[in-house]
Amino acid sequence: MGMLQQIDHIGIAVKNLDETVAFYRQVMGLEVSSTEVFNGMKIAFLRVGDSELELLEDLTPDGTIARHVAQRGEGMQHVAYRVDNIEEALQDMRAKGIALIDERPRPGARKARVAFLHPKSTKGVLIEFVEPQSSSLP
Ligand code: CO
Repeated sequence: MGMLQQIDHIGIAVKNLDETVAFYRQVMGLEVSSTEVFNGMKIAFLRVGDSELELLEDLTPDGTIARHVAQRGEGMQHVAYRVDNIEEALQDMRAKGIALIDERPRPGARKARVAFLHPKSTKGVLIEFVEPQSSSLP
């Protein structure tokens, strides 16, 4: 079996988190599973089966999400795959010559450990690896 367990979430860059949450609740019938302010962003997760959407609004105009919205408009920003062991997953990518944005895991939303791969090495998609908090407990 491969190291990718499932799509953990799809990251979507938005201008206004509350308006976008209202759209997904009222039109798409999804429920918010958690919200937080993290790394200068307002974030909401909405569950869809075993996966989630991660809606991201930057609080400052110079953040990654704000720049994405300014340059490309609102929309899909990254795809996050859940992995068992993020160090092993990064080592595997490094061995295969994939450019890493994060050389080592860093804290992500919901206390997960995350790392991003560079889209120049991944056919244009910003890929995030996520090791959820629970699997890093002994
Ligand atoms: Co994400």
